Amino acid sequence: MRKVLLAGNWKMNKSVRDLDAYFDALQQALGSQASTIAQKVDICIAPAFTLLAPCRQKIAGRPILLAAQNAHFAQDGAFTGEVSLKMLQDIPVDLVILGHSERRQYFNETDEDVGKKVDACVAQSLVPILCVGETLDERKANKTFEVVKRQVLVALKGQAPSLQPHQIVIAYEPVWAIGTGVTATDEQAQEVHAFIRGLLTEKFGQKTSEGIRILYGGSAKADNIVGLLNQKDIDGGLVGGASLKPDEFARMILSGLRKV
Ligand code: PGA
Repeated sequence: MRKVLLAGNWKMNKSVRDLDAYFDALQQALGSQASTIAQKVDICIAPAFTLLAPCRQKIAGRPILLAAQNAHFAQDGAFTGEVSLKMLQDIPVDLVILGHSERRQYFNETDEDVGKKVDACVAQSLVPILCVGETLDERKANKTFEVVKRQVLVALKGQAPSLQPHQIVIAYEPVWAIGTGVTATDEQAQEVHAFIRGLLTEKFGQKTSEGIRILYGGSAKADNIVGLLNQKDIDGGLVGGASLKPDEFARMILSGLRKV
């Protein structure tokens, strides 16, 4: 049984002075259900680099995981403006979002770059949230499966068949759904999630593939998360805009309890 994971990707939002109010409101909204939630749902926050250490302090003692939004694959070196996985281990973070479509689109990250990052991340015992997903043009041209297959297989090329399910998380995020208010239908998302699980089965075998969590991302919100989570191969969400609002994010986390 895969444990639901709801990860809030704050992107380039919020500052240190927002944190107390955010985590207090989140805790209040989760209220008396907090211990049940901890058993059934993993909660994760992915803030900007500058907020990682302050968030780590604020969440101490709370069942909340911490993720970075990116990392460089090298341990150290002349890479101005970059942050290494080794540095993230100082915080420490639990997970690292890699290959987000905004990184691919605005910062020209290639499948090969993402693969190097995944390799370094797994080698350093951090858990990547590997993001894949097609653009609107690719979907219209019926290239969704071809694109997702390439993104998944290139990024996982360096992974051995012995990879364990807890060592990686995949996020399917159709680019046309990110920040647009247009969500993939439950069926559209499930279809691609099942396809990704099939790719994982071919590469790692059925047992491992059935243990790997595949999140949906792209305008996921409190109003549509239940239907998405009820799909067989959707194991949680990578949530952008809606995770900035603690009340709404808490409603989504509570929906995670209802996953069948
Ligand atoms: P969104 O972003 O929920 O605001 O669409 C999701 C993401 O980019 O991870």
